[in-house]
Amino acid sequence: MVSNLLAGLLALLARDAYAQSARGSDFLRFGCSQLVVERVDPIVNPGAVFSPHLHQIVGGDSFNVTMDPMTIDPPKQSKCTSCKMVEDFSNYWTASIYFRSPENGTFRRVPQMANGMLNGTLLEQEGGITVYYMRPFSGSNKKTTVFSPGFRMIAGDPNTRTKASGPLVNCHRCLSKSERITGGSGAPCDRSDTAEFPSKPCPGGIRVTVIFPSCWDGKNVDSPDHRSHVAYAPGNSSLAGDKCPASHPVRIPQVMYEIMYDTSEFANPDYYKNGKQPLVYSFGDTTGYGAHGDYLFGWENGSLQRAMDALGTNCFSETCPVLKLQSGKDLIACTKEQQAKEDVDTNRCL
Ligand SMILES: *[C@@H]1O[C@H](CO)[C@@H](O)[C@H](O)[C@H]1NC(C)=O
Ligand SMILES: *[C@@H]1O[C@H](CO)[C@@H](O)[C@H](O)[C@H]1NC(C)=O
Ligand SMILES: *[C@@H]1O[C@H](CO)[C@@H](O)[C@H](O)[C@H]1NC(C)=O
Ligand SMILES: *[C@@H]1O[C@H](CO)[C@@H](O)[C@H](O)[C@H]1NC(C)=O
Ligand SMILES: *[C@@H]1O[C@H](CO)[C@@H](O)[C@H](O)[C@H]1NC(C)=O
Repeated sequence: MVSNLLAGLLALLARDAYAQSARGSDFLRFGCSQLVVERVDPIVNPGAVFSPHLHQIVGGDSFNVTMDPMTIDPPKQSKCTSCKMVEDFSNYWTASIYFRSPENGTFRRVPQMANGMLNGTLLEQEGGITVYYMRPFSGSNKKTTVFSPGFRMIAGDPNTRTKASGPLVNCHRCLSKSERITGGSGAPCDRSDTAEFPSKPCPGGIRVTVIFPSCWDGKNVDSPDHRSHVAYAPGNSSLAGDKCPASHPVRIPQVMYEIMYDTSEFANPDYYKNGKQPLVYSFGDTTGYGAHGDYLFGWENGSLQRAMDALGTNCFSETCPVLKLQSGKDLIACTKEQQAKEDVDTNRCL
């Protein structure tokens, strides 16, 4: 309970990332602008141009249709990254959300928007993704071991259509108009969040949170389901402490995404009558339970470990002197042409 309260408090401060009081806290938090939006998925459908569903991808521009863990070298193969930290050529991606018109059944991709005011600016072009790397929020051992080259994992499952038991690890926050810029307060996936799509209009947008596992088997950079080489820590808080199960003994940094969807145009109360809601994930999910995220490690050798070890001293959020930062202009300039070319704003594969 104490650790839950602590996690809640720290995460509350996290929402106000610029607060001096939060310095010395436990995470990197930085913005990444959109690299490309396309139906490509090198983890689940390597080689496929037109993977089954649409993704929005940020990070290093070596992102590709095939990214074999044995041969890729994102820091070498990328020319730029759309993330704030220039040593970070990882790729981060999630599904898109569509609005299905209750009036005529047509689909429109819900635009993304920037998340809060990272260092006083709205940095993330077309929304992008805000990325966290967190060390233990409770327990005495703050040490984490960063990922090996080639490492990848998935949080959540697009095939899920029912609510999972245990703490929420993927969730939706329905924002009021006044929360549009701040992105909402409170701990990620707390009582204000829902596993399912919000059941009411969200004029300030929807913040989707994806929380990855914090424990690793210490050996495999991948597994057949892209999940079983990692595990969530035991306990009932989605923000993990320093413990890991014997099967997955290595405490890795806990990765978390926040994705902001601008639902202001789709906030007509009529769309929410009789238990209905008009949103659908790009993989055909109208429940929201299938929310998920994909992670592919690509930091320059040693840089992420250096940053994780510096957390709690002068490294916090997007201010971390052991890392090199680029300007918002430069990260926004890093984009990539679709390899799976199609109009993604009206979807034909649902
Ligand atoms: C993507 O993969 C193709 C085929 O393997 C390769 O020719 C191309 O250089 C790759 N692009 C990047 C950016 O790595
Ligand atoms: C369908 O309805 C939506 C509103 O729900 C409207 O914005 C759109 O223009 C309509 N499209 C067509 C083809 O009528
Ligand atoms: C979390 O788990 C502990 C025991 O493991 C229990 O005492 C506590 O009530 C739980 N808290 C919540 C919020 O479920
Ligand atoms: C990464 O850095 C460590 C120590 O700085 C070094 O021992 C290791 O060989 C490097 N690995 C690669 C792949 O460059
Ligand atoms: C944040 O802004 C301040 C002042 O505008 C600047 O000095 C600092 O370098 C910025 N930090 C980052 C991480 O961009």
